[in-house]
Amino acid sequence: MTVRVPAKVNLQLGVGPVRDDGYHDLVNVFHAVSLFDEVTAAPAPEPTITVEGPPGVPVGPDNLAVRAALLLASHTGVEPRVALHIRKDIPVAGGMAGGSADAAAALVACDALWETGLSRETLLELGARIGSDVPFALLGGTAVGLGRGERLTPVEVTGEFHWVFGYADGGLSTPAVYAECDRLRTGSPAPWPVVSDDLMAALKTGDPLALGRALSNDLQPAALSLRPPLSEALTAGTSAGAVGALVSGSGPTCAFLAPSAAQAEELATSLSRVEHFVTVRQARGPVTGAVVI
Ligand code: C5P
Repeated sequence: MTVRVPAKVNLQLGVGPVRDDGYHDLVNVFHAVSLFDEVTAAPAPEPTITVEGPPGVPVGPDNLAVRAALLLASHTGVEPRVALHIRKDIPVAGGMAGGSADAAAALVACDALWETGLSRETLLELGARIGSDVPFALLGGTAVGLGRGERLTPVEVTGEFHWVFGYADGGLSTPAVYAECDRLRTGSPAPWPVVSDDLMAALKTGDPLALGRALSNDLQPAALSLRPPLSEALTAGTSAGAVGALVSGSGPTCAFLAPSAAQAEELATSLSRVEHFVTVRQARGPVTGAVVI
């Protein structure tokens, strides 16, 4: 059973004050893009995990796909007799929710393999227990996520947008980036985030220029503080014709919005010369969430 699952970029990441449970209340506008991992679930005597692709993915019980399979097994009373195999194309620790995507894919793959027939609501609820971004990877498209980011409302989008992503060398730890965000805000309390009207209007009309102007990420100053060369990399994208440039989620991947498919091609060529990027990829969004292929 093989499931394909997309990466996400945050079109708006509004980070509110830190909560008692250590999480931050968010206004998180997720957008699924056509960079995909694939997770295969096959019968096996005991749970195992193998990973194909870049290094840095845990291959033990810490792997989010393994945690998802074990959670689904205990929820349904099934023995977790599964060999999981992940083919990674989403950058690791890159701010594109690759680990969460794999967890979402494992839920869908194991539900199909074990014929447990869980409802979408139950999968979303189990996903939220694994990580804040897992429910969105199940859903895909474009959606506003409130709370930790797990309370989702789909957003209507006209047409599609053309993106270029710069994968940086080495990842950033999400908790470390949130901690840096809190540190930078010391003494000035975070305002309560609200959904950007300009962003919603741009998505509705499908205008890339308006979308580019409306992109925002409250974690960007923290990611730039931890990885200063990213600033220059973002400027390089704007100089090369991007109509929007921002750090994706907690970074260090940078997202560049192109005004058209043809210009995305040119932008990718220019960005492949940016020293800080080890890989440059084009993608379109929105795309659907985790699906059996
Ligand atoms: O939910 P998840 O395990 O993916 O979150 C990873 C980390 O990101 C958390 O441990 C926390 O440090 C930070 N986080 C947060 N507020 C959120 C979501 C994530 O502080 N709403």
